[in-house]
Amino acid sequence: MLWIKALHVISVITWFAALFYLPRLFVYHAMSDDKASIERFKIMEHKLYRIIMMPSFVLATALGAWMAIEAWAVYTTQYWLYVKLVLAGLLIAYHFYCGHLLAAFKADKNTHSHIFYRWFNEFPVLILVAIVILVVVKPF
Ligand code: HEM
Repeated sequence: MLWIKALHVISVITWFAALFYLPRLFVYHAMSDDKASIERFKIMEHKLYRIIMMPSFVLATALGAWMAIEAWAVYTTQYWLYVKLVLAGLLIAYHFYCGHLLAAFKADKNTHSHIFYRWFNEFPVLILVAIVILVVVKPF
């Protein structure tokens, strides 16, 4: 099971790399008005989401679920995991909202400013800090 946990943590790290980078691309995309930059951002965002973000999300979630199901009898009294799953659920909702924003940018229909994306970019940081404290310290 330690191999599964190691692969879970690795896929969580690559998932977060994309969760941090994609909204940053949205910041610069929302500030751009020249066609060449806009087309370049569309390609970068599409590749990041399809090639790194989505596979990492699927792997991190599947491996996490595997560990949870495998030892559920132990985890039922570990309340930190319940809180972690709620936070992971919020992160998954953020992930798919990024997909929705990606589609809006692709169609040149983005309605948010770069200021919005600068704040939007901070949300995964809060989730990361909370989840890592929960899984390492296991406070309750
Ligand atoms: C998406 C749903 C997720 C599920 C179902 C899940 C489930 C699990 C489970 C069951 C473990 C083993 C816990 C243990 O016995 O020590 C684990 C470990 C871990 N998870 Fe997740 N996880 C998920 C997402 C995440 C996310 C988003 C993060 C990062 C912020 C994360 C970070 C970790 C870390 C660092 C460990 C290793 C903890 C240790 O060795 O003490 N997981 N995960």
